[in-house]
Amino acid sequence: MQEKTLVNKNNPIGIFDSGFGGLTVMAAVSKLLPDENIIYFGDTAHVPYGTKSKKTVTEFSEKISRFLLKNNVKMIVIACNTASAFSLNYLRNFVNVPIIGVIKAGSVLAAKITENKKVGVIGTEGTIKSKAYEKEIKKYDKNIKSFSKSCPLFVPLVEEGWNDGKITREIIKIYLKDLLDKNIDTIILGCTHYPLLKESIKKVIGKNINIVDSASAVAAQVKYILTKNNILKKSGKGKYKFFVSDSPEKFKAIGNKFLGNKILNVTKKSL
Ligand code: DGL
Repeated sequence: MQEKTLVNKNNPIGIFDSGFGGLTVMAAVSKLLPDENIIYFGDTAHVPYGTKSKKTVTEFSEKISRFLLKNNVKMIVIACNTASAFSLNYLRNFVNVPIIGVIKAGSVLAAKITENKKVGVIGTEGTIKSKAYEKEIKKYDKNIKSFSKSCPLFVPLVEEGWNDGKITREIIKIYLKDLLDKNIDTIILGCTHYPLLKESIKKVIGKNINIVDSASAVAAQVKYILTKNNILKKSGKGKYKFFVSDSPEKFKAIGNKFLGNKILNVTKKSL
């Protein structure tokens, strides 16, 4: 007999981020689950989260989650690493649908693939200070040593479209030097924007270090949770809605670079 579910399969998945960076996660989710409807919220009025306090980021995250719940989402994905690190546990107090962040998926993947048990983590100041990745990695294997480094210039570089080039690689080299000195064999890109620097990072660190970009691992986790809860949508083409707290035009212009011109309608919604 089919299990009864209170949530309609056609309800959208809610994905949120401080801005457009979380579209890397949305791209992975929509690629793996093309039938799913998705509502994306980018808090462009308050980006960046990476330099803000836990309290402030959690307040924004709560408002966005309540907005998504009002829009009947069947699941929430916190695409932002900083908000995942700071706010996931708090949001679980009132979010009554499955909710996940991005830290777990990346940590599990890194723990699985490291051979020498030395993992590097890069992210925003907030994510690195929270030690969320380190704690999560330890849950899977307490013998793994993680080394972290915040790379505050990476987000503005990506937002300016400086994904490659001599200056970008020079900055990457400076930031990653300490981690490379520790002989890591795996590095987690612990920030929504960093997948766009992946090719440049590869050029700097060489072929022998695994790069963990958690977006596809998160998408697999979404599929697993929806399947387990019997709310996976299996037919019909997914529809997307985008909300931002600041200029829709700017979001559309930059965001379409991430999603291949799938962003048609963007609505402004102040928090
Ligand atoms: N989305 C943020 C993260 O993944 C990066 C941008 C920001 O600082 O808001 O941590």
